[in-house]
Amino acid sequence: MTLDAPSPDAARIAPGTLAVLDAALDAVVAMDGRGTVRFWNRAAERIFGWTAAQASGREMAELIVPERHREAHRRGVERLVGGGAPVLIDQRVEIQAVKADGSEIPVELTVTRMPLAEPLFLGYVRDISDRVAAEQQLRESRHRLLEAAYATRRRFERDLHDGAQQRLIGTGIALQLLRARVEDGGELAELIDEARAELTAATAELRELARGLHPAVLTQGGLRPALRALTGRAPIPVSVDGVPAGRLPIAVETTAYFTLAEGLTNVARHSGARSAAITIEQDATLLRVTLSDDGRGGAVVGAGSGLDGLRDRALALDGRLWVEDAEAGGTRLVLEVPCAP
Ligand SMILES: Nc1ncnc2c1ncn2[C@@H]1O[C@H](COP(=O)(O)OP(=O)(O)OP(=O)(O)O)[C@@H](O)[C@H]1O
Ligand SMILES: [Mg+2]
Repeated sequence: MTLDAPSPDAARIAPGTLAVLDAALDAVVAMDGRGTVRFWNRAAERIFGWTAAQASGREMAELIVPERHREAHRRGVERLVGGGAPVLIDQRVEIQAVKADGSEIPVELTVTRMPLAEPLFLGYVRDISDRVAAEQQLRESRHRLLEAAYATRRRFERDLHDGAQQRLIGTGIALQLLRARVEDGGELAELIDEARAELTAATAELRELARGLHPAVLTQGGLRPALRALTGRAPIPVSVDGVPAGRLPIAVETTAYFTLAEGLTNVARHSGARSAAITIEQDATLLRVTLSDDGRGGAVVGAGSGLDGLRDRALALDGRLWVEDAEAGGTRLVLEVPCAP
């Protein structure tokens, strides 16, 4: 608003202060104890699309609070005036605001009570649409990068399986046929047997490599058979509970699988545990995967690259990952990712 705007409160705010508030990049608005607008600076005009003259004297809730939040806003004003819990005062909150054209924008808001006899509350409102949009783009690009990395690993696994592995198996069969034509005990037979043993070892190594890249059983059958195979290879007994019967989005299944694979490797390497337990829980919005062990505890994310990489994968899916010491000793590794059933 300007100095000569028809606000009864303009006169009570020193002219210099008024000019400063009008120059502010953020919206600065004031509301009295009835929730009525008493001040509206230029940035508020620009951001919300109401002029100071239009806004002055109207209820703040009707102007910038989305309809679904209006009752809560009104109750908040009553509490502010009544001196109850100091809702919002001097805190930064991120909420949705509504503009004159009905569209909504995300804003950051902080409210201050003016040191006046009658209640007058000053709100500083920052339009954070650009930041929220940039964060959303960043989240989406991280998600895409993770998906692309998983897709590449699946392709490598396929190529190894269908290409190199098949050729090695073919070569093994050829050597077997050759061996059958050579008499036992000779130098040639010995050489062929050595070559066959090397080939078997190479094939096994290649299979391990392919599985580390992306286990085919996960692509084909999902988490249930993949976890059965994973826990079957663990050196200690691992119970598995709550694995969803149906399939989940591939990125979620893959992240859950790699989290548990690295978690079980850590249990075997660092914990000294005698047993471990995997629990999977799913509600309307979230998949929670927990790996508990009964070892010595003390795991730290960031001390090595394993848990750090898992945390990045979780973040790329808008999820989170952490470790905690269980009350009874041992470690709990928890992954949470958004995932509707
Ligand atoms: N289940 C566990 N029990 C006890 N300590 C653990 C457990 N898991 C991890 N830790 C500790 O947390 C550290 C970090 O684990 P992280 O997986 O990030 O790294 P790392 O296993 O040491 O190395 P990397 O995984 O990169 O090969 C480990 O070095 C270990 O000290
Ligand atoms: Mg590790």
